[in-house]
Amino acid sequence: MFPFKRRAKTVAALDIGASSVKYVRLDRKADGYALAAAGIREVPIESIVSKEIKDRDSVIFSVQGLLDQCDPRTTDVVVSVAGHGVITDKFEIDKKSGAEAEQAILFEAEQRSPFDVDDVSMDYHVIHTDDDARKMEVLLVAARREYVLEYLNLLEDSGLHTPLIDTDAFAVLNSYEINYDIDPERVTALVNIGFDTTNVVFLKDGRFHSTRDVSAGGRVIYEVIQREFRLNQEMTMKVIRGELEASVDQDMLKATIMSAADELLTGLELAFSYFRTLAKTDSVDWIVLSGGGALIPYLPECVQTKLNVPIEIANPLRNIEYDPELFGDLQPEKIAPLLAVGVGLAAREV
Ligand SMILES: Nc1ncnc2c1ncn2[C@@H]1O[C@H](COP(=O)(O)OP(=O)(O)OP(=O)(O)O)[C@@H](O)[C@H]1O
Ligand SMILES: [Mg+2]
Repeated sequence: MFPFKRRAKTVAALDIGASSVKYVRLDRKADGYALAAAGIREVPIESIVSKEIKDRDSVIFSVQGLLDQCDPRTTDVVVSVAGHGVITDKFEIDKKSGAEAEQAILFEAEQRSPFDVDDVSMDYHVIHTDDDARKMEVLLVAARREYVLEYLNLLEDSGLHTPLIDTDAFAVLNSYEINYDIDPERVTALVNIGFDTTNVVFLKDGRFHSTRDVSAGGRVIYEVIQREFRLNQEMTMKVIRGELEASVDQDMLKATIMSAADELLTGLELAFSYFRTLAKTDSVDWIVLSGGGALIPYLPECVQTKLNVPIEIANPLRNIEYDPELFGDLQPEKIAPLLAVGVGLAAREV
């Protein structure tokens, strides 16, 4: 009867990563968001590799275990995809509206997508309209359909329905936007370091500029520490979480992490230099780090030194009301950077 959509009062999100699955549910309030549920559960590290699901059963087991533990009644979850199967592109077309705009965008998209249009799921978003020049800037997101279906099927087999699929990068951006004011004077890079994939989002003139996924993250650091210190999986994770500080030679740990991070740092350098060319700008003024990589000892300082850009660690719970009890044994102020994607997804309108 009414022409407007009903806004969901609560939205749940699952961030399925190669090292852990994160769950976040956010309630909408008159003046923002309140955390209704949250949780993290580790995934066996060979179950997902570079965003490809290798062992469905163990991922389903982790997803169901996590939900049983922190929000058993959930049925709908927003999820995200990233990495090789996803491309984002930005282009400008003459300002149009309605069906005319849609046609022009689809035409342009077909010319640009490196995948066959029949094989992709596409979405677009008008990010900026320049009324004087009568132009509009369109953001295109295309994901290999086969890859998206793999995730959808997995969720269905976990007993879940998915009202919306987003990308990791846009979730990171969304979580930044709800927690911070974007400074139009400063070129900012949001860098979300995961286990296999690092999402980079550049902000310029107070809005989204572009995004890239770098195919590197904490996995190499994990493997090198395990090898160099001759540890099993559990102990390696403990060292990385800083739980064995007293029994590990910190100088050696730092040197190990610095050399293991080389591939990631080189990937980031490339992404930054590509951005500077594309955006015709000399510098990035600020890096906001999130993801589990922001918690790896010495890694944030390596990023800062290598890229020569000051960094800040993101707090995706900064503007969100929460009861620390929801986190059980976890300390929210410590693990918050891990929730960047989950918070960004749960803050979506569905
Ligand atoms: N509490 C912690 N302290 C230090 N490091 C941590 C902590 N928790 C996770 N990490 C590290 O962060 C990395 C994982 O980050 P994250 O959880 O963001 O990745 P993911 O989402 O599982 O992976 P991807 O998105 O690449 O598939 C791992 O290298 C892990 O060792
Ligand atoms: Mg991740």
